[in-house]
Amino acid sequence: MTGRGISRREFAKSAVAIGGTAALAACLDRGSGSVPEGTDDPSALPERQHAWNDALATDDAGNPRMPRHHVLLLLDYAGEGTPTDAHREGVETALRDLERAYEWSTEGLLFTLGYGPAYFERFGSGPAGVDLPDPEALAPFEDPAFDTPDALLHLASDDERVVLEAEEALKGTRETANDHEMTTSFEGIFDEADRRTGFIGAGLPAGNQDVDGIPDSEPVPEEAPLFMGFKSGFKGNQATEDRVTVASGPFADGTTQHLSKIRLQLQQWYEQDSRDQRVSKMFCPAHAAEDRVEGVGENLGTDSGMDECPDDAVESGRRNGVVGHSQKLVSAREDDSPRILRRDFDSTDDGVAGLHFLSLQAAIDDFVATREAMNGTDVAENSAVGQRVNNGILQYMSVERRGNYLVPPRSLRALPPASPGQ
Ligand code: HEM
Repeated sequence: MTGRGISRREFAKSAVAIGGTAALAACLDRGSGSVPEGTDDPSALPERQHAWNDALATDDAGNPRMPRHHVLLLLDYAGEGTPTDAHREGVETALRDLERAYEWSTEGLLFTLGYGPAYFERFGSGPAGVDLPDPEALAPFEDPAFDTPDALLHLASDDERVVLEAEEALKGTRETANDHEMTTSFEGIFDEADRRTGFIGAGLPAGNQDVDGIPDSEPVPEEAPLFMGFKSGFKGNQATEDRVTVASGPFADGTTQHLSKIRLQLQQWYEQDSRDQRVSKMFCPAHAAEDRVEGVGENLGTDSGMDECPDDAVESGRRNGVVGHSQKLVSAREDDSPRILRRDFDSTDDGVAGLHFLSLQAAIDDFVATREAMNGTDVAENSAVGQRVNNGILQYMSVERRGNYLVPPRSLRALPPASPGQ
């Protein structure tokens, strides 16, 4: 504890994790450089809210690179019953204000607004043409709690000032965003049910590793984009935006979103496992044996080289006593493509090392099937690999919460009816 009664760990928290007007003020003070402005014609932005890839920066190999800072706001509709037109207009106007204020890019702001099953209940039916089930436990060994807010807002930017300022502007505690006047806010329309934050990108996990779940030896390498020390999200191992888009019906051009809150426990990962074991568990044993992964894995280029890992995970588990996370997940592919688009990031929320696993897919079923492959139950039943031990990275993570959402197309993002056009 410091003299001010704040634990050292609380004290070391990043501005985005702390949030609020004071954190924003501190951030604005130390921030430098201008933030690119948005467009006067927000209708020119893509109809798909999740169309981020064209707006994202790329890494040296050409993979789309996620924005570095993230805020997730779980929101409940403040009104009674079905939404009023005035509230719809308020939401749309506030979001357009943000699009005018910030460029739709990594240096500016990217965001999505999705709605959960609880939101659609007020209409007496789920969203037309989209199966949006309540979340459920997805492994025999997990017991998550379920998120049931009406809406989920995801704000993302390379600039921590931007996510914080956009959040405060939407909440109505700040009248301008990037020096642009806000005409309105979410005040009186949405109440905050929960606030989650995170980051991804070289330097951030190392700089934020003073949390429970990570040994005090500060093992997270400076170059690591994620706490576990490896790069993720290679272009070749992600579903395309086209693949995860709802193809037909009134919500065409939307997508479904699954959000899990995962706790990481990396003591053994860093203090007992060898580098070879980490590579085996994250990728596959053959990658370790052949020394295919250098450092955090930038050398892999635009895909994690799964073609060079045996695709029969059971057989591989029998032979090696260990099976890779990535290796197992190949069996969930469809037409040789992953079915989900991962937009996950690390977190220090609650003072623990965590990961907000946010993924987009055409249907929640795609996520469920993918997660089933990750469970590696077949490997555990038919080899010496345990249900969690040596079974990819299952031993190092526990899923604490799950939630499902529909991210409507942009034109229906403001408190949509369940059956638009009827
Ligand atoms: C602690 C959390 C996790 C970490 C650090 C992590 C990390 C990684 C890494 C490094 C890769 C290989 C590089 C790449 O292809 O991007 C990968 C692949 C993948 N992961 Fe994870 N992952 C995590 C959790 C999950 C979860 C919860 C799922 C969802 C079920 C998932 C689904 C996938 C998929 C679909 C692939 C690509 C497989 C393919 O190539 O077909 N991951 N992950």
